[in-house]
Amino acid sequence: MQMLEFYASASPGTERALCEELRELGFASARLNRGGIPFRGTWREGWRACLQSRIAQRVFLLLGRFAAPDAEALAAGIGALDWRPYLTPRQTFAVASVCRGAAFAPDNVVTLKAKDALVDRIRADEGARPSVSRDDPDVRVFVYLVDARAAVYLDLAGEALHRRGYRTEAGEAPLRETLAAAILRLSGWNRRDRLADPMCGSGTIAIEAALWAGGAAPGLGRERFGFERWANFGAAQAEELRCLRGEMRRGAAPCAARIVASDVDPDVLGVARRNARAAGVRLAFRERSAMAMQADGEPGIVVTNPPYGMRLRAGAAFCRETAAAFSRLHGWRVCILAGSPEYRRQFALRPRAVFPLANGDLPCEFLIYDVS
Ligand SMILES: C[S@@+](CC[C@H](N)C(=O)[O-])C[C@H]1O[C@@H](n2cnc3c(N)ncnc32)[C@H](O)[C@@H]1O
Repeated sequence: MQMLEFYASASPGTERALCEELRELGFASARLNRGGIPFRGTWREGWRACLQSRIAQRVFLLLGRFAAPDAEALAAGIGALDWRPYLTPRQTFAVASVCRGAAFAPDNVVTLKAKDALVDRIRADEGARPSVSRDDPDVRVFVYLVDARAAVYLDLAGEALHRRGYRTEAGEAPLRETLAAAILRLSGWNRRDRLADPMCGSGTIAIEAALWAGGAAPGLGRERFGFERWANFGAAQAEELRCLRGEMRRGAAPCAARIVASDVDPDVLGVARRNARAAGVRLAFRERSAMAMQADGEPGIVVTNPPYGMRLRAGAAFCRETAAAFSRLHGWRVCILAGSPEYRRQFALRPRAVFPLANGDLPCEFLIYDVS
């Protein structure tokens, strides 16, 4: 059986959560690494990572590594790779590059050189060249150049994996589904206890919680992954993937935990309701202010992403009010993805953990409080 090398990319600060998730999913070779998690496996394992990982942003296949101290060496290395299984004149493609350290040229020059070398190689083999598509390529090639070493990857995901397919509408500042899944894992939630997102927006955290608790593979809502458009993906592979999807569908169960999603904004709550319906999960919805939350009944866990910045009207007074309201939830664990340091400043309690993360380009911190 052909063993391949894959790399699952992670949002900054979520690497440990992703590595833990992949190991739990049976990827025994997953290794903790900054930026993403390398693992080995067969084709099926690569597909499985796309279908089952909640936290990975993308999954890449490593095509090769070579020395690339200059443009000629890069072109020779790209030309020496076997592109035929993936890219022929019948597929479209796009190249992206990231260069670090003492790379011989900036990203855009490396991208151009790599693209030319790839086109030359395919034209030499096949007598015709594939076309570039910037918006919707069949094959996405990624060149990572650190100092004088290049690594060339193909993106199995195609569209980024946070696009699960259920979120047809978003509120203000929606959270990526992959980041929501990562903070749920970091929160320590056991997938059975009551969970609340009292500032739920479009419902991403609550929906991801219900999908996780029910064991539903997050990629099942996706119509197509990138690897399904490669040259080596034929009828036999399509049938194997169909069976794999079927196995995963049968493995899902309804979520047993009580999950409450609430927000002050009735319009955004309507969006959350429709997204939950599209995701096939049942949540309890409430239109109410987070400041009115009570510690009644069994204690549970709050996982939430409150507004940040003046655009979302979250100044110091709002952060103070939020901290005071959450500090009254005796017996609860309160986990906040805070886009502003003001939240931590306003809590009288000491957090049991602080994880530095990034919400897109915005640095943020994930704060965990055990309210006694
Ligand atoms: C950053 S957004 C949450 C985004 C959400 N995680 C998502 O993925 O769509 C913050 C949300 O807090 C809500 N909000 C603001 N003040 C609130 C309050 N006092 N009580 C409850 N929700 C509030 C806003 O309506 C907004 O939907």
